[in-house]
Amino acid sequence: MNQMKRIGVITSGGDCPGMNAAVRGVVRAALHRGCQVTGYLHGYTGIISGETKMLDSQAVGGIISMGGTILRTARSTEFRETEGRQKAMERLIEAGVEGLVVIGGDGSLAGALKLHEEFDYPVAGVPGSIDNDIPGTDYSIGFDTAINTALEAIDRVRDTAYSHERVFVIEVMGRRNGFIALECGLAGGAEAALIPEEDYSLAKVCEDLKTAAERGKRSSIIIVAEGAMRAPDVQAFIEKHTGFEARCLVLGHMQRGGRPTAFDRTLALRLGAYAVDSLLEGVSDHMAGVDGSKLVRHPLGFVLSMHRAVDPGKMRLLELMAQ
Ligand code: F6P
Repeated sequence: MNQMKRIGVITSGGDCPGMNAAVRGVVRAALHRGCQVTGYLHGYTGIISGETKMLDSQAVGGIISMGGTILRTARSTEFRETEGRQKAMERLIEAGVEGLVVIGGDGSLAGALKLHEEFDYPVAGVPGSIDNDIPGTDYSIGFDTAINTALEAIDRVRDTAYSHERVFVIEVMGRRNGFIALECGLAGGAEAALIPEEDYSLAKVCEDLKTAAERGKRSSIIIVAEGAMRAPDVQAFIEKHTGFEARCLVLGHMQRGGRPTAFDRTLALRLGAYAVDSLLEGVSDHMAGVDGSKLVRHPLGFVLSMHRAVDPGKMRLLELMAQ
C-alpha cells in the first residue's frame, strides 16, 4: 500500500473549545509521517468551493490554547445533497487529497461516512461537540471546557441567589440531551436538573422547593437543558406555583467559546494524532475515541448506529444530594 502524500482536515458543525488543538494534532502527526495537510475552511462548504488553507507546522503554532477554530466551521446544506457530495469528491481528487479527517459532531461524522460509502473514500472522524453525545468515546472534545465554563457562571449566580434568597433557573446547552445539564447540576450543587431524556414534573420541583424552604433553605438553583424546556417558562411556573421570587439565565453560546481546558487540549491532540495514524495505516471509515484513558477506534457506521445515554445513577445522586 502506498502511503498517502496529502490528507485534508475540516472542522464542521457547531464549534467547540479544543478544535484548534485537534487540528494541531492532525497536522503535526501527519507531517511527522511525511504527509502534507490541506485545511478546508467552513467545513464541507469549503471543500465544495475549494477554500483551502495550507497547514504546515508553523500554521498550527500557538493555536493550542485558542477557542473557536482557525478553519472556521459551518453546517453545509449543499453537502447534504448527492450533487454536493459529488462536487466535494471531485475537488478532493483534483487537489490530490487522498483522505479526510473530519472534526465535529454526529452530523459532521455522518457526512464523512457518506463520502466513504458513496465513493469508497478514506475518512477518519474526531469527535468534537460540547454536548458529549457521540457514541464510541467516553468524551468528545469541548465537553470538559463547556461544563467548566457553565459551572463558573452557576457558582457566580449561586452567590447572588443566596444574598437575595431567590430561586434561579439556569439554562444550559443540549438540544437533544442532558449531558451538560446533569454534569453541571451535580458539580454545581443544583436542587434539580431537567433533561430531555427523563420525565420530569415541574409540580414536583415546586413541591421540593417548598419542602426545602420549610427546612430553612432560602435559595435554590435549577438547571435546565435547552432541549427539555426554556428557562423563562420554568421560572414563570415556579413563581406562579410557589410564590417564591425567581430569576432565569440562559447561558447560550458562551459555553461554546473560550480557552480549552488542559483535559480538552490533551484529548484533542491525542484524538487528532490517532485519527491520522489510523488513516495512514489504511484504517479508513473509523472514529477515534477514548475508553477511560485508552485510545480506541470504531467504524463510523457502528458509532452512528448507537445511542449514548446519560447515566441515570448520576441523576439519582443529584436528587439525593439536593435533599
Ligand atoms: O451541538 C452543539 C450545540 O451547541 C447544542 O448544544 C446547541 O443546541 C446547538 O449546538 C446550537 O447550535 P447553533 O450554534 O446553530 O445555534
